[in-house]
Amino acid sequence: MFEIKHKDNLGRTGVLKTKNGIVKTPALMPVIHPRKQIIDSKELGADIVITNAYIIYKNEELQEKALREGLHKLINFDGPIMTDSGSFQLSEYGDIDMENKEIIEFQELIGSDIGTSLDIPTPPYVTRSQAEEELKLTIKRAKESVKYRKEILLNSVVQGSTFNDLRSYCASELAKLDVELHPIGAVVPLMENYQYKDLVDVVMSSISELPDSRPRHLMGAGHPMIFALAVAMGCDLFDSAAYILYAEDDRFLTAHGTYKLDNLYEMPCSCEICSKYSVEELKKMEREERKKLIAKHNLMVSFAEIRIIKQAIAEGNLMELVEQRCRSHPRLLEAYRHLANYMEIMERYDPLYKKSAFFYTGPESLKRVEVYRYWQKMNEIYPKKRLLLLNSSKKPYSSYLPKKVGKLYHIGSSSSSNTDDLQIMFVDIPFGLIPLELDEVYPLAQNESPDIIDESAREYIQEIIELTAEEYEEVFIEASLAEKFDLGLYREYDGSQDLEIKLNEKKKIICVADYQFGVGAGQALFEGNVEIVKSKKTGKIRHIYYGENLIATMRASDGFFVLSKEGAKRLHSRMEYPQNRVMVNKESEPFAQEGKSIFNKFVIDCDRNIRANDEVLIVNENDELLAFGKSLLNSAEIMDFKVGQAIKTRKGGI
Ligand code: GUN
Ligand code: ZN
Repeated sequence: MFEIKHKDNLGRTGVLKTKNGIVKTPALMPVIHPRKQIIDSKELGADIVITNAYIIYKNEELQEKALREGLHKLINFDGPIMTDSGSFQLSEYGDIDMENKEIIEFQELIGSDIGTSLDIPTPPYVTRSQAEEELKLTIKRAKESVKYRKEILLNSVVQGSTFNDLRSYCASELAKLDVELHPIGAVVPLMENYQYKDLVDVVMSSISELPDSRPRHLMGAGHPMIFALAVAMGCDLFDSAAYILYAEDDRFLTAHGTYKLDNLYEMPCSCEICSKYSVEELKKMEREERKKLIAKHNLMVSFAEIRIIKQAIAEGNLMELVEQRCRSHPRLLEAYRHLANYMEIMERYDPLYKKSAFFYTGPESLKRVEVYRYWQKMNEIYPKKRLLLLNSSKKPYSSYLPKKVGKLYHIGSSSSSNTDDLQIMFVDIPFGLIPLELDEVYPLAQNESPDIIDESAREYIQEIIELTAEEYEEVFIEASLAEKFDLGLYREYDGSQDLEIKLNEKKKIICVADYQFGVGAGQALFEGNVEIVKSKKTGKIRHIYYGENLIATMRASDGFFVLSKEGAKRLHSRMEYPQNRVMVNKESEPFAQEGKSIFNKFVIDCDRNIRANDEVLIVNENDELLAFGKSLLNSAEIMDFKVGQAIKTRKGGI
């Protein structure tokens, strides 16, 4: 029903199948008013629309027409239609005269594609007892709706007001139900009041418990300014009544904020409307006509923003887009900063490598998943003895090694002069310390930051060096670094001529393998007398052989290893289950052996540390190696999805 195509952070592009067509997500559903629609549904340029079943039910004429001719005829739209129940009316007017059963059955009868049960939209900041009471009813009705429905796909709305634990509880209860989509409800007041930080908590505590295989809909979010952040938190669907509501007030939506016609000197974008009309022409126009034109502009910029987001996910620079968008409003920037508190979950979902380089756009970039993940992994693989910190050069740093070290400062006590235990690291923004051996691994070489260093970045480096100096027995620091980051050092070291700056290639391949597959993988893969073959053109490591047998290839674009048959066997025999494994059932075994891709539904277990784009081993129920390949999803997604590909197999028949 729903499949993921591309991933970036918690964001995903996907395809949702309905009986009236497919929807590419993230998607924006314009709200169609069954009575007051001023732009014809077919002219909206939407793949899917949303309308309100309660309004249709309440109006005799509409109800009759919907029952007779169907919803699609009624609103003149052939594609997928989502219907909302009367919940919004319930929250606005306090009471509605309709039962949950009736509204579900009505949505079914008129041929809605996706229907909604009668949830209670509990507003933010109510008392806990109110939130709890209303939540009980929301969950009860969601459970009932599964019994009443026949053909429609079902929305089960997450409520729980601004209580994070109630949101999580609700999401985990709804996750158990046989429903297809999950709106996150009652967030309109948060957005109207710019309480985006609280919105982050509401969305994140819901999403953390929702099944990955079901699309999430941020209900009532129609301002394009919020789309990128919401998608980065895992939202897939939006609905916009905003396009028309804002137009009624002569307001123009943009991805950066809102313009009022009265304040406009120039038209705000390059859409059809803004290119054709001037501000003066619009102002002179009759109100209804103007409203229609502004509504069209509002829709066009909203759809354009969705396309920009999809492109960013496919390219792997969604967070750069989020960082741009969140600079449009201080409350959004605050929300983005707050999102860093959800690092662990974001790390689990973010792909290991992306097509795009990491761009430092400001101090917030220091708190991005890539930086966090890098420190988690890097810290595991290096013993902490003697450390030489060098100023960063061009990337990859190992290609621009200085011949000799110049003036050095010294922290700790000299205990050894053995060059073998001297670890060289480069100091740079945003990753802090980068070991010589890992400098080609994504995104340590694939990142850009300004040469003019901001105060936060300087403090960040100072702190890292301080903490690192405590952990190592001895640290040597290049003098130019001490100046650049204002390290306030004074103990000069006069034995710099003894410190050798040289890359040990065997150590490099072991470190990269440990970093990629877990500690011990380097020994497992490259034990014995292996041969390192370098590219004649670039001089970079390309292949590692054992005799005639290729073990692995180091990919030039991101510095990670791609295994070959020998490598997969070595890794499998030395790394214990479930490390790096995806286990498939009997049915799938012959397909895996033939090198066919692995579908999610055949996977019965996997290493819970698998991230999207990881190189993985494919094994049978007895942990016998069948094949190896690249994971398209993370472990949680592989286990949750029942459709779609899990692993792109590189080679079978092992
Ligand atoms: N539209 C905006 N918010 C909500 C909500 O919480 N529930 C429903 N059903 N519709 C909404
Ligand atoms: Zn425009």
